[in-house]
Amino acid sequence: MSGFLRTDKRRNGKAWLTVLPAGKRVEVARGVNLLEAIAVAGESVAQRCGGRARCGECQVLVRQGWRGLSKVRQAERDRLAKVQGVDPLSRLACQAALGIHNNIVVELVNH
Ligand code: FES
Repeated sequence: MSGFLRTDKRRNGKAWLTVLPAGKRVEVARGVNLLEAIAVAGESVAQRCGGRARCGECQVLVRQGWRGLSKVRQAERDRLAKVQGVDPLSRLACQAALGIHNNIVVELVNH
């Protein structure tokens, strides 16, 4: 029974995202990527490739909650290796999806 409840909780889970430097905070559904979540906050991120990890312009710095995001996949790792000014906290907003019950803080780099 508790396993079912936990599964149901995950399905309907939400995460909190704070977008710096404006400090806007929004609640978004689990599985939404940072690009979409940042748009919900009313902010925009530069991008040219339509979220396919090809341009690297959607880079953001994850200031809090790194572990609450999806894992870095090979395509993102490869693109970040080619982007100038990458920080150890950098993620591609189009590739990082939100988990549940997280408090994520990101800082926009190219906006
Ligand atoms: S939108 Fe181009 S890499 Fe994310």
